[in-house]
Amino acid sequence: MSTPHWLPNRTSQEACDAALRNFERSYGYSATGVWAAPGRVNLIGEHVDYAGGICLPFALEQSTYVAISPRDDDTIRIESWLPSHSEPAKAELRAGNLGPGEISGWLGYALGPIWALREAGLLSPSARGYDVAIVSDVPLGSGLSSSAAIECAVASAVVELEKGDGALADDATRTAIIQAAIRAENEVVGASTGGLDQNISLQGKSGFALAIDFSTGQSYHVPCDLESHDLAILVIDSNAPHSLADGQYASRRGIIDAVTHYCQASTLRDIGDDTAIYAAAQQWATSTGADSDCTNRRVRHVVTEISRTLDAIESLKRADFQAFGCAMYASHKSLKEDYEVTVSQLDLIVDTAKDYGAIGARMTGGGFGGSAIALVPRAEVHPMAQAISRSFAQAEFAPPAFLQATPSPGARRER
Ligand code: GLA
Repeated sequence: MSTPHWLPNRTSQEACDAALRNFERSYGYSATGVWAAPGRVNLIGEHVDYAGGICLPFALEQSTYVAISPRDDDTIRIESWLPSHSEPAKAELRAGNLGPGEISGWLGYALGPIWALREAGLLSPSARGYDVAIVSDVPLGSGLSSSAAIECAVASAVVELEKGDGALADDATRTAIIQAAIRAENEVVGASTGGLDQNISLQGKSGFALAIDFSTGQSYHVPCDLESHDLAILVIDSNAPHSLADGQYASRRGIIDAVTHYCQASTLRDIGDDTAIYAAAQQWATSTGADSDCTNRRVRHVVTEISRTLDAIESLKRADFQAFGCAMYASHKSLKEDYEVTVSQLDLIVDTAKDYGAIGARMTGGGFGGSAIALVPRAEVHPMAQAISRSFAQAEFAPPAFLQATPSPGARRER
């Protein structure tokens, strides 16, 4: 059976209502408000954020919703309904114990940012308690950044509760929330990810992608009006298992960080021009006995992906989608052959999309499972989903799941 499975997509109003209903049922009173933060797709610029590179994500409509009220004591009661779960995950803990080594797993994503916001001085150091009910429409483990959506939704909520409505409109506050969410993921959860996901979850804008330059910390919005060009981004969740907390992501990042430290640079990109970066990588490999061919391929992915992304941003500005699509295919090839972070399911999606005439296709996010995206004419969205479902059935892979991605707003108060 190869009928495409489309992921359910409720409206933000329905999701908000669900969060409020769950809150009231669990805690017996009404929440103060609901805040939301989205998942993302990355159009191009993969595995370069931690190297001082440049990325081009946009925020999804699919978001995480947090119904919350402050408490008078230092107790936190929290529950989280994840997509497709029939029971919420629940916990009750002291608000003073949210740092590294004190919480782990989903609680690290949800509450670690509160610890990091306190450390950064954005929340008062006194440990205030909260009642929290979370619902999420960002599919879990799909490489669409469900983790950052939870981090950024909770962080945005507690900051506005403490600083007042409208605090999120302030750029410096948003930047501080982004930094706190990244710190929580790195230090509380223990996943050595870069800042791509948290940046777009806070800074998404309807109809725009976001070019983020991690060497300068600057970002700007790039129009991404697919609809008026009769185009769409189809997201294909490969349903291959995916986790960034395992060692694969860290091992890729480890080589890039090691070469960077060897040169005493702040990022790989800061080492110098491409020739200087390749030379530094070879010297590092020789001095440590690391595999020089492997080192060269890892670094080559990062170097070529940064230059592809810079070109792709210019193509998008000119609305030259053919050139943009070519860059997407080249990005996937590099992630497959040089960085080796794809899996057979992701490669099959991209090959099938290409065979059926997609303008571009590539894996998106950290890889090792997760999702791919395809840039297709709107009329081709459903036939493309059918073609991909068919090729999965033929390959005897678990069926993929689909959604259509729309560039959407970042973190916000919903109610
Ligand atoms: C994950 C990480 C990001 C980024 C991507 C790959 O999504 O969280 O920081 O490194 O992988 O581009």
